[in-house]
Amino acid sequence: MTVAEMARLPLRHLRRGKVREVYEVSSERLLLVATDRVSAFDVVMAEAIPHKGAVLTQLTAWWLRRLEDDVWHHMVSADVDEIIEAVPELAPHRSALAGRAMLCRRTTPFPVECVVRGYLSGSAWKEYRAHGTLAGERLAEGLRESERFDPAVFSPATKAETGHDENITIARMAEIIGATETAELERLSRRIYERGRAIASERGIIIADTKFEFGRTDEGRITLIDEVLTPDSSRFWPADGYQPGRSQPSFDKQFVRDYLEEIRWNKQPPVPSLPDDVVLKTRDKYLEAYRRITGHELP
Ligand SMILES: Nc1ncnc2c1ncn2[C@@H]1O[C@H](COP(=O)(O)OP(=O)(O)OP(=O)(O)O)[C@@H](O)[C@H]1O
Ligand SMILES: [Mg+2]
Repeated sequence: MTVAEMARLPLRHLRRGKVREVYEVSSERLLLVATDRVSAFDVVMAEAIPHKGAVLTQLTAWWLRRLEDDVWHHMVSADVDEIIEAVPELAPHRSALAGRAMLCRRTTPFPVECVVRGYLSGSAWKEYRAHGTLAGERLAEGLRESERFDPAVFSPATKAETGHDENITIARMAEIIGATETAELERLSRRIYERGRAIASERGIIIADTKFEFGRTDEGRITLIDEVLTPDSSRFWPADGYQPGRSQPSFDKQFVRDYLEEIRWNKQPPVPSLPDDVVLKTRDKYLEAYRRITGHELP
């Protein structure tokens, strides 16, 4: 979906994220539209990755259907015909929305990211290597990079409006959103992650870590929102070839990152353009993630 197509939706546009567009449907409903934009090193590339938005939306929908018994979530529908039935003024935009739009229950998001780490990687590895801690809490000694945690570690972060999110302690999270809410979000996050990790591992994918967001509906119901267990909200590693003691290739954006490293981009604008083969290989990886996890092709 191009920016021009976005602007034409007959709904109030509430926010543009790096990847998603959020529209108001009513006081109780939102429309989330995942574009094909891809970001690397926190910068959005000029090229779109075909089908990426549909992969993110349909993979989230797939997980939410499986998690129905575990958690109350925001999805009303990710089927474009059902969405148009509920919001008829979207009918002229059917092809732009197909696959990538999700009609959602509107909530007030908690201003924290609920990160669950099943493996020691990324910013957690950096902190552990430097201080032996994760978000200030001491971990066992002698852990290697990419080592599996059992149980997984709940390590919340603040939602930074700009720049990088900052890891916070669970005590700090309790100060921000309340102790009862913190306990509940931790419980739900662990449960969802453990279910997701088990399902993905049967399919050859390690979900090394992931980020959940929760909100509260007007009736006060704690609700899982946003995207769920996608390659954009999680680190997916191919299970074959997993080896602790080094970093792992990421499943999805590795070709983009490798290319940007190869040309020694200084990570400042302007963004370099991605060659066609990098775009196509990245597209194939997103489609493969969808296929491997769900067991069928993206419709
Ligand atoms: N059911 C919901 N109710 C309220 N807000 C929601 C709901 N689901 C998702 N959101 C919000 O919609 C936004 C989705 O946009 P997106 O993920 O593209 O942007 P972002 O995460 O804010 O920024 P970026 O991804 O660029 O770092 C997020 O701010 C998320 O908190
Ligand atoms: Mg986001």
